[in-house]
Amino acid sequence: MCGIVGYYGYRDCSDVLVDSLSKLEYRGYDSAGIAVFEDDKIKIAKTKGRLADLVDKMKTEGKPQGIAGIGHTRWATHGEPSDVNSHPHSGDNVTIVHNGIIENYKKLKDYLLSQGRSFVSDTDTEVVAQLLDFYYCRHHDPVRAIIETTEDLEGSFALGILFNDYPEYIFALRRESPLIVGVGENESFIASDVPAILKYTKNYYLLEHDEIAVLGKYGTKIYDLHYQKLDKELKTADWDMDAAEKCGYEHFMIKEINEQPVSVKTTITPRITDGMPDLSECGIDDEYLKNVKNIHVVACGTAMHAGMVGKYVMERLARVPVNVEIASEFRYKAPILSSDDLVIIISQSGETADSLAAMRLAKSMGAKTLGIVNAKGSSIAREADMLIYTLAGPEIAVASTKAYMVQLSVMYLFAFQLAYAKGRIDENKCRELVGLLQETPDKIAQVIENELENTQFVASKLICSDSLLYIGRGLDYALSMEGSLKLKEISYIHSEAYAAGELKHGTISLVTDGMPVIAIATQSELFEKTISNIKEVKARGAVTVVICRESVELSDDVADYVIKVPDFDDVLMPMLACVPLQLMAYYSALLRGNDVDKPRNLAKSVTVE
Ligand code: F6R
Repeated sequence: MCGIVGYYGYRDCSDVLVDSLSKLEYRGYDSAGIAVFEDDKIKIAKTKGRLADLVDKMKTEGKPQGIAGIGHTRWATHGEPSDVNSHPHSGDNVTIVHNGIIENYKKLKDYLLSQGRSFVSDTDTEVVAQLLDFYYCRHHDPVRAIIETTEDLEGSFALGILFNDYPEYIFALRRESPLIVGVGENESFIASDVPAILKYTKNYYLLEHDEIAVLGKYGTKIYDLHYQKLDKELKTADWDMDAAEKCGYEHFMIKEINEQPVSVKTTITPRITDGMPDLSECGIDDEYLKNVKNIHVVACGTAMHAGMVGKYVMERLARVPVNVEIASEFRYKAPILSSDDLVIIISQSGETADSLAAMRLAKSMGAKTLGIVNAKGSSIAREADMLIYTLAGPEIAVASTKAYMVQLSVMYLFAFQLAYAKGRIDENKCRELVGLLQETPDKIAQVIENELENTQFVASKLICSDSLLYIGRGLDYALSMEGSLKLKEISYIHSEAYAAGELKHGTISLVTDGMPVIAIATQSELFEKTISNIKEVKARGAVTVVICRESVELSDDVADYVIKVPDFDDVLMPMLACVPLQLMAYYSALLRGNDVDKPRNLAKSVTVE
């Protein structure tokens, strides 16, 4: 969602702001803008559209020249994407950029209108600008004005703020929505995420809930809402610049698909000791797992799909009931939880509003929570009772690939340890499964290498379809959900994932001549049954793409196109079979001329519900 940046230093501020915003493009946006102090006056450039449109506009209308300023990419919530609704927004004395949602903006706006203030945009952000201005006019103390404003606001927000009277400072505030303060040599930054500052510095402060930062000529100071100065730990990002760059790949998505073997290895290796799963560093031991009664996996989108695979694996190996829930449903359905229950929250960003709220609800009801999170220091990571970081590094493409893969790898390790702790598998079996998991990085690399051309060819056969189906049974069904989501989010082709055995109960009526059906058939025990389902759709005119094991030979009455993955243990097959699904989605989007990394209407980090 919206991205915020800010800069104070010795460089050309507009250039730094645009460059930093480009590193946040992955978050999804529909307009962009910057505000820079030029000769002690704030100059704003903003536009609906892409950063490139902003750069073009500045070429014709002039680029603000200065050393202090703030910038923003907006993902519209209140008011359509338009020049006027784009950030920054101003009051007489202040200019701000904002990420998040002000829930009580209507009430505040009515009050400010009654005080004679007027508004030019439809945004909740302008209400904050006017409110800040309102308080500032009373005493001309910027930090006090920020404190008073914060006390009035409800919702989640991160703000970058300029006060006309303080041209050598930028101010920032965080409640819920992420914000960091980068610290370089004689320069400082604010940003919604680390990749925005990596080119300039790796050192940063992570602003906590309701903390205010003042950056500028005299360094960086951080205050709480009591106006008390805080001593914060300076963190160092362990990502390098390559993580935020395409490094020769055409898109981040294909780069991230290729990074999967390394990401899995990096994630699982530190959690394996002497061939056994070891999550003790994450606060998880066998004694605790032995007593877990029910598991709930709560997440959104792709992360929820990783939970679906986890459910099949945990139930099969550990015989513990696992309930997978969409976070936005879970939080409002009066979930039934007890203190013996474990709620696992999976999230790449660690900031997804519904997942965070679901976790807080689970905690308030006495359940233990385990976060499986990729973004270091994110809200879910900080608030979960137990935490397993997935170590995929930054995922920039909106469509999640490597984050899903490492979520799967953690689900497996967790399921193995759970099954062992519960006495459902013995040490030998556990070691065998861990050994197989350790083989997956090489096998994933093999699938990428072997199937790159084939998936591109198959994608070329799909791109003219209006709609298609993904089918599978068991773990193949859990995986087909992710395959379908991946395709629709970036290729914009409608698709549905269906349990293959359920087709006959309604959905098969959709199958007409030429409709593509992608069937995943990697599960040995269910293979013959899935093949029967494939024949049923083929007999009704479907064009079938079958993803199966290398050793399988399929006849023409089953498959029009075949994609093969190495023979491997059934349980771990999703880690291999998901690769061709990702590649097919990637090539379909590419061949249709879509913006692969930044699909329309989507945001990477969904910080509003
Ligand atoms: C799809 C995708 C989304 C996210 C979902 C949850 O490719 O990335 O479906 O999985 O928005 O996001 P996180 O994992 O950040 O909580």
